[in-house]
Amino acid sequence: MELFVTFCFAFPLVLLLLHLVHTARRRKLRLPPGNYGLPFIGETLQLISAYKTENPEPFMDERVGRFGPIFTTHVFGEATVFSADPEANRFILQNEGKLFESSYPSSISNLLGKHSLLLMKGSLHKRMHSLTMSFANSSIIKDHLLVDIDRLIRLNLDSWTGHVFLMDEAKKITFALTMKQLMSYDPCDWTESLRKEYLLVIEGFFTIPLPFFSTTYNTAIKGKVVEALRLVVRKRREESERGDRKNDMLGALLDEEGGGGGFSDEEIVDFLVALLVAGYETTSTIMTLAVKFLTENPLALGQLKEEQERIRAKKGELEALTWSDYKSMPFTQCVVNESLRVGNIIGGIFRRTTADVHLRGYVIPKGWKVFASFRAVHMNDDHFKDARTFNPWRWQGDGGVACPPPGVFTPFGGGQRLCPGYEIARVSISVFLHHLVTQFSWTPAEEDKLLFFPTTRTQKKYPIYVEKYSEMRHVKSKERIVKEEEEDGSKNFGVL
Ligand code: HEM
Repeated sequence: MELFVTFCFAFPLVLLLLHLVHTARRRKLRLPPGNYGLPFIGETLQLISAYKTENPEPFMDERVGRFGPIFTTHVFGEATVFSADPEANRFILQNEGKLFESSYPSSISNLLGKHSLLLMKGSLHKRMHSLTMSFANSSIIKDHLLVDIDRLIRLNLDSWTGHVFLMDEAKKITFALTMKQLMSYDPCDWTESLRKEYLLVIEGFFTIPLPFFSTTYNTAIKGKVVEALRLVVRKRREESERGDRKNDMLGALLDEEGGGGGFSDEEIVDFLVALLVAGYETTSTIMTLAVKFLTENPLALGQLKEEQERIRAKKGELEALTWSDYKSMPFTQCVVNESLRVGNIIGGIFRRTTADVHLRGYVIPKGWKVFASFRAVHMNDDHFKDARTFNPWRWQGDGGVACPPPGVFTPFGGGQRLCPGYEIARVSISVFLHHLVTQFSWTPAEEDKLLFFPTTRTQKKYPIYVEKYSEMRHVKSKERIVKEEEEDGSKNFGVL
């Protein structure tokens, strides 16, 4: 009892003392103002419950309103400085490796593997980032990948009839594209079974309520994917040693001349898994959201369809899109930009300071966590008029697609960690939209809504009913023939 009474008095005192020490240190350091919320959990629950709704904005709006665009909070187990300021975000991105380093929660590191690009640092990161870029830049897409992107998207769309879960199909497309780009595999039974195993890893990871704290479950199911890829790497290594080299990402990783070489099988597998993860969810979600936004904006859909039909009209029905076709889709690029801006697939990035950092009049101590919120900037009326409305026309500039000031539009991050897949993602989404609008009409099968935690997605995988124009034409001409025959028959009857 005595112990209990002492505890009851001492505990609040210790908390008060900690609070005072904290406040004094904060004043001295000029930390950004903010609120640390409850002991231990901080404001984590407020953040999660906001992002589990269709409108997560109030979490940031309230704090930016009270403290300004740079504020301190306490989420996922530690004090974190949030930035909703484009210049501060730019500063954070540009000073990667100097004042900041990437800092992802341990469960994400576990999902990706320690040799993934997102977790690499220093000179190894620089080397591997440029190697990845060299396999995803415009000239590679133009000369090699575009043909595959076009072919694999068509192949997927060919199987569409009736009721389709758009998110599932978009995921099949991005998985097929990534397998081709990384390892030269075309869709087959093996890639489909790998995709199913991989789905378990991803879904398991994101359905556990607090993914940031769960690792063991994920390690167990990830094993099968890793094992399958390890066999591929081993086989390809043997082929490469015999002088048989393929022109894909795996080939480059195995080969010194391709910029790689010297990596163990484990390192290569980690690297490949992380590329699969990075490109799969992101690109497929933007494909789905672009269609959802367009469906809800018939004017924008009409204009995009007109642009794409003009391109198709100059080509044979089965002719693949070329680079110059891709470059003549200005309105589609506005739609892609606007879907990226409103969709905010990657809402922001976590970093850790590697020194005391002076930022917009504040000092963030060394070792602190920082979150640069892209979403908060993308959804701010100061940077985008009527920011919470989908309006692709806002991107129409004088000489093409408008370019906002630095730090304002950053769906692919920036600086040394700029997404190496940004161009592939843009091309894939554009080619997908081309074939979708020129081949199909569709209507939503059910109401579906957007959620943002643990990832951005639609709740019901965006179910739609599709109708293929060629089949509609076929049915119409059949109907016409039957009608003509009936009319002929009645004429004959009349004669008889
Ligand atoms: C719409 C689609 C995509 C979006 C919105 C997106 C967004 C991003 C963002 C914001 C980052 C920066 C992360 C950070 O700074 O910590 C990033 C990094 C990365 N992305 Fe993407 N990405 C997309 C598609 C892709 C694709 C298709 C690939 C694969 C080819 C890819 C591979 C990567 C990799 C490997 C990194 C890590 C780069 C590094 O740390 O150096 N992404 N992505």
